[in-house]
Formats: sequence, structure tokens, C-alpha cells
Amino acid sequence: MARSQWGSRLGFILAAAGSAVGLGAIWKFPYVASQNGGGAFLLIFIGFVFTLGIAMMMAEMALGRAAQSGAVGAYRKMGGKRWVWVGYMGVLVGFLIMSFYSVVGGWTIAYIIKSVTGEVISADAKHLGSVFGSFVSDPVQPLVYHALFMALTVGVVLGGVQKGIENLSKFLMPALFVMMLVLIVRGLFLPGALDGVAYFLNPDFSKVTGKTVIDALGLAFFSLSLGMGAMVAYGSYVSKDTSIPSSALWVVSLTTGVCILAGLMVLPAVFAFGFDPAAGPGLTFITMPAVFAKMVGGQLFAVVFFILLMVAALTSAVSLMEVVTSFMIDEFHMKRVPAALSMASLMFVLGVPASLSLGEWSGYTLFGKGVFDLLDYTTSNILMPLGGVLLAILAGWKIWPEIHAQLGGDRGERIVWMPAMKAISCFVAPALVGVILVYNNL
Ligand code: PFF
Repeated sequence: MARSQWGSRLGFILAAAGSAVGLGAIWKFPYVASQNGGGAFLLIFIGFVFTLGIAMMMAEMALGRAAQSGAVGAYRKMGGKRWVWVGYMGVLVGFLIMSFYSVVGGWTIAYIIKSVTGEVISADAKHLGSVFGSFVSDPVQPLVYHALFMALTVGVVLGGVQKGIENLSKFLMPALFVMMLVLIVRGLFLPGALDGVAYFLNPDFSKVTGKTVIDALGLAFFSLSLGMGAMVAYGSYVSKDTSIPSSALWVVSLTTGVCILAGLMVLPAVFAFGFDPAAGPGLTFITMPAVFAKMVGGQLFAVVFFILLMVAALTSAVSLMEVVTSFMIDEFHMKRVPAALSMASLMFVLGVPASLSLGEWSGYTLFGKGVFDLLDYTTSNILMPLGGVLLAILAGWKIWPEIHAQLGGDRGERIVWMPAMKAISCFVAPALVGVILVYNNL
């Protein structure tokens, strides 16, 4: 059977941006930025995204298109037998991330419903904290929503590359932008909101430490879906005449744009109502509902906000599941439907202990971490950076001519940024990502 392809360049860009823009940009970025000097963090983040980030995104997409295969096949075909395990690792990471990502995806669905019923429309952040705490530690409710989110994701993946993933992204990504703009405009009109804007955009370099730089690099990698083969799989569906460099530039710019918009959506409103902008992970599920409760028409905005978060999570989850599904299709010649259904069931099962580890099973720990934290930690801090280093080494040292050709180097024109791309792949990426790997685990 001929390999699936994206229907259009725009469809590809929006699907890849859909993979990138997710909980990383909308949930993590605002609180990590506000804990790390606001504008200073933003500048460092942008610096990484437009050097290392874009180079690695191009490398992944080029690798996928050159090999016409998802991660495992691509590493085998381009790198040889010794590299195939990097592909397996990517599939494993996709599997592991999806199992807990879907749990959080489930929370977003639950919060849409809780906003509609008014349960989380309260100005009392303490009360909201306990609502959130008792919800995530409940043994049943989050699992029901986890199942629902997994079913939604699998529903899209079953539709296939063009009809499922591309069509969904073409519809949901613009919708996401519109919803964000509505919330930003609403927030900026609140009295005191401009202090939040200043806090977010004024660089406070006194807060920058080594950890800030490492966090920015780690978040850049996670937010761009790099280091595990998602962009390899998506790149393998790109037609010959689509330009990878310009598509990658679009994806990276859209993602950075959404990160900035997410900051502008969350922080001014948080400031206007006198909440703590450095509230950490609870900012989204605890502080934001309190912010909405104080706004005129806040319930409607709360519903829109959680729909937006769910949409962002869904288009990312779809790419995680696609990595695993395309692996089963390519390697075991399975049909798409049984491949996606069987993998989704297994990911659901692994998500169960992840969810329970936030409640009844919180006593079971390994290295001091419950299942949820362990999955998050091992994927984000160990396996994804490791995947990134290895990808850079393969692209820069071993198969550079193929990568160069995929990026338009075969047309014989001189491309100004190409030497920089090569230097990043050979030296900068392995060194810097290697530093994150060591630093995060010391
Ligand atoms: N980029 C997604 C986010 O920021 O939420 C997470 C992610 C999706 C990582 C897909 C990796 C991936 F392959």
C-alpha cells in the first residue's frame, strides 16, 4: 500500500503545530516563565527555539521523509542496525508519555464539565485547591475521563493521516487561536492587567540561573515535540515538493507564538485579581478558575478556556498515538484499526496506575516518585533529551548528505543557514542537550 500523505502543506504545518502546541505551551509555559524571571526566560526560550529547536525539527522531518518511514524504520534504514534501538526508544517514549498525558487530558474534559455546572466557579482559591486535590486523587472519576480522552484520541487516529489527523488540526488549530485571542482581549481589559503584561515581558535577569537556562532548553524540546520521533513520523507523510525548512519555520513560529499568547492570556488576569503568578502547576486548574469567577461572564470564559486546553492536548495526544500506531503498521504490517485500538488499550491500562498514584496508590514509590511523576520524569528528563542527542549525532555525523538533500541542498544553490544547521547537529545540540541530560539527573 502506498504510504499515506498529507493533503496539503498547510495541513501538514497545522498538524505538526498541533503536535507541538499542547499542555507544554499552555499549561507549563506560563508558570515556568513566571517562576524564572518572566521576559528573561522568554528571551532564552526564543533563543533556543530558533536555533537548536528549528534545526532538530528539520532534522527529524528530513529523516522521516528520506526514509519514508516512522521512527523505527527511519533509524534502521538511514543509520543501520546499530541505530534501530533509538527508534524503539522513541516509540516507547510516545507510549509512556501518552499514558499520563491522557490522564491530564481527562482532567481538561472534567474541568469543561465542572465549569459548565459551576462547580469550579468560585473566587476562593483554597476551595478550588481542595476541589482539584480531591478530584485528581479520586479512584474512579479521573479514570473515566482518562478513558474518554483516550477514546477521543484513538477516534482521530483511526481516521488516518489525512481524514483524521489533518482534518482535525485544520479545524481545531484556528479555533484554538480564536479562543486564545478572545481570552487575551478579555484579560487585558481588566484593571491592573498591564502589570501582568509588564511582569511577563520585562526581562528580570537577576532571576536567571543555570537552572533557568536548562529549564528553557528542556521546555523548548518538550514543547516542540522533539527527541522521540513524532516529527519523524509526520515528516514521513510529507510530499516531495513541500519545503521542509519553511514548514519547520512555520511550526516553530506558531508554537512560540502560542507560548507567548498563553503567557498573555494567563498572567495579566492573574495579576489583575491579585493571585500569585508563580503558583506553579496549579495555575491552570486552581488559579485560573478563581480568576474567571471574579470576571463578569466568567463562567463562559472558563468553559472556553478548558475547551482550549483540551483541544491543545488532543492534537498533541494524536501525534503521540500516531507514533505508536505507525510503528505497529510499518513493523508488524497491522491494519490501522487494530493497531490503534490495541495500543490505545495498553496506554489506557498504564495510565491507570499513573492516575491512582496521585491518590490511593501514592504510597507506592520508586526513587521517591509515584508512577505519574516517574513517567513524566523519565520521559522529559532522560529519554527525550537522550533521543535528541542521538538524533543530532546521526543527522550531523552519519547521514548529513541525505539530510542536506532533503532540506533543499540538492538543488545546487548555496543556502546561507546550512553551515549553521550542520554545526548545530554535529556539535551544539549533542553538547547542550547532553548537558541537560547530565544536569537533570545529578
Ligand atoms: N509538545 C507537546 C506539548 O507541549 O504538550 C507534548 C508532546 C507531544 C511531546 C508529542 C512529544 C510528542 F511527540
